Amino acid sequence: MIQEAEIDKAIKVLFDEIQFTDEPRGLYDPLRYMIEIGGKRIRPRLCLTTYSLYKDFLGSEVLNPAAALEVFHSFTLIHDDIMDRSPLRRKVPTVWTKWSEDTAILSGDVMCIDSYARIAKAPKDVLMPTLELFSKTAAQVCEGQQYDMEFESKEVVSMNDYMNMIGLKTSVLIACAAKMGALIADAPKEDCDALYEYGYYLGLAFQVQDDYLDAFGDEAVFGKPIGGDILNSKKSWLTVRAIEKADDKLRLKIIDTMASKAATASEKSAKISTMMEIYSRLQVAQDAKAEIVSLTDKALSYAHQACKDSAYGTMERFAENLIGRQS
Ligand code: IPE
Ligand code: IPE
Ligand code: MG
Ligand code: MG
Ligand code: MG
Repeated sequence: MIQEAEIDKAIKVLFDEIQFTDEPRGLYDPLRYMIEIGGKRIRPRLCLTTYSLYKDFLGSEVLNPAAALEVFHSFTLIHDDIMDRSPLRRKVPTVWTKWSEDTAILSGDVMCIDSYARIAKAPKDVLMPTLELFSKTAAQVCEGQQYDMEFESKEVVSMNDYMNMIGLKTSVLIACAAKMGALIADAPKEDCDALYEYGYYLGLAFQVQDDYLDAFGDEAVFGKPIGGDILNSKKSWLTVRAIEKADDKLRLKIIDTMASKAATASEKSAKISTMMEIYSRLQVAQDAKAEIVSLTDKALSYAHQACKDSAYGTMERFAENLIGRQS
């Protein structure tokens, strides 16, 4: 088994030394910008972590696919920020605001392609299942992003539909990362499948936490604008839960507020403060925290199936670090 400190070091070296094409700068600079700023890098870390449960050495056979997960994720963020009109990401201006929308589209495209080139470096004996897993996941992320956008104009979204949507836009990539590490390590099929479920439920908890932080986080730490989901009429976990809990009169107020366009600065701040007041009246923040704990527990029950003793401890610490995050 490989120690967590060694994984941290490997992640740092991997992204400090990662190589991309140079020219044309207009295409590759935004890509480098996103990767160099770096986020939490949880997807490559999870891939290396599940690999580490079965192996004693981190080689290029897993480092390249791990890097692919982060490049692919960063590509989805560049396009997501255009779709969500978001000005800030990882505490810096988003690619579409710093360069242009056209640049963000094309740099995102080339990142997606780059991620496939890195996946293709998986060991030959597991290349087909790795590629199949990655391609299926990539399509599912697009499906989730489409539902996320479609939900903006729906008055009411059920909790079931919301969970399905975040399962696609966010969880499947985290699940894919967990399974891919095990797959490349030649782990038993049952372990690969249980680790996929672990990643899936952890991913659900992760997105509920992201929705929570979008309303209740600290912009300086979170690195993204607070209230963005409200302004975009997103059906976040908080909104969906608030609609579930509200009486008929309040439900109409939520639907009305969420549907409003909020064009000027004062309309924007009114929209945010109206929703924040409703969230606080209905105590949905507490509900979100309880949901994050319950989804994480479910993730850990799958970790139990795949891991014994110290291996379980590793997966438990990984989950606890995610739950405790503020960024
Ligand atoms: C942001 O992902 C998008 C979501 C799925 C919530 P992260 O929170 O992993 O973003 P970075 O990579 O750390 O910036
Ligand atoms: C993004 O969800 C999920 C993907 C990028 C696939 P969000 O839109 O909530 O992510 P943030 O909050 O902008 O990071
Ligand atoms: Mg989005
Ligand atoms: Mg977004
Ligand atoms: Mg978000």
